[in-house]
Amino acid sequence: MRRLLIASIATAVVSSAVLAQEVRLPLKEGSIRFAVIGDSGTGDGHQLRVGKQLAAQRARVPFDLVLMTGDNLYGMERARDYEKKFTIPYKPLLDAGVKFYASLGNHDDTNQRLYKPFNMGGERYYTFKPDRSSVRFFALDSNYIDDKQIAWLEKELAASGSDWKVMFFHHPLYSSGGTHGSADLQREKLEPIFVKHGVNLVIAGHEHFYERVKPQKGIAYFTLGSSAKLRKGDLKRSALTEKGWDDGYGFMLMEIAGDDLYFEVLSDTAQLIDSGVVHRTGKVAPTPGRSSQPVVATKPASVP
Ligand SMILES: [Fe+2]
Repeated sequence: MRRLLIASIATAVVSSAVLAQEVRLPLKEGSIRFAVIGDSGTGDGHQLRVGKQLAAQRARVPFDLVLMTGDNLYGMERARDYEKKFTIPYKPLLDAGVKFYASLGNHDDTNQRLYKPFNMGGERYYTFKPDRSSVRFFALDSNYIDDKQIAWLEKELAASGSDWKVMFFHHPLYSSGGTHGSADLQREKLEPIFVKHGVNLVIAGHEHFYERVKPQKGIAYFTLGSSAKLRKGDLKRSALTEKGWDDGYGFMLMEIAGDDLYFEVLSDTAQLIDSGVVHRTGKVAPTPGRSSQPVVATKPASVP
């Protein structure tokens, strides 16, 4: 009995030591919580497992929206493909009223913009702001960045004041991926606008792994494209990499509360891959080298 007690105390100490390093979403009142999936549209067992885990996690972390970083449907895009590669894997979430917001990947037909459950409002790029929140989301089409999209983005950003500005789109502006790497062309066009208008957070996919890039010019960058496809060993950790994982399938949960962004990256078996918080500082004068609302990491990530 005594031995059992000692053993259980030892276990408790170990688990509290592990927990002490973790940053879990605080579920603050009035915060905005959302999930992120990327490169998800295979319709295979990996997508199904991630979908199942996503629904299971919602019991712990209630969220009402899911951002999709593109490659929403691989291969054919018939009605039955939308079912197999979207509505079936995420059925519990859709049934619960969770709204998905899609961005277009290189494998996606632009007609996806007309598919109601993707909430794109019929457009290749669009913006939305959840009710009573201080967060504005922008879905961009990084496949084709024409002058019209740039002008639209400039106008919408200028109107968004002190809101958190969260971009999501397919091609990562910064990446340590062996197959793709940083999307230089897109970065050339988008980064100066992000910096000028105080964008805080950029989420991309395309690479079939997870990478948290060190903040660049005061902007936080995450890449998550492993919600159904995986490119094991493709993450070539570089000076850009704060944390990376190319060893399994997963998704992200995020929470924005006040000036803090909390994040958890989870695998399809609920393993905590990365977690942490980034803090947004007050508005500062914009310079070409730094966003006007820079973020700084306040706590390093941990791996339990
Ligand atoms: Fe892609």
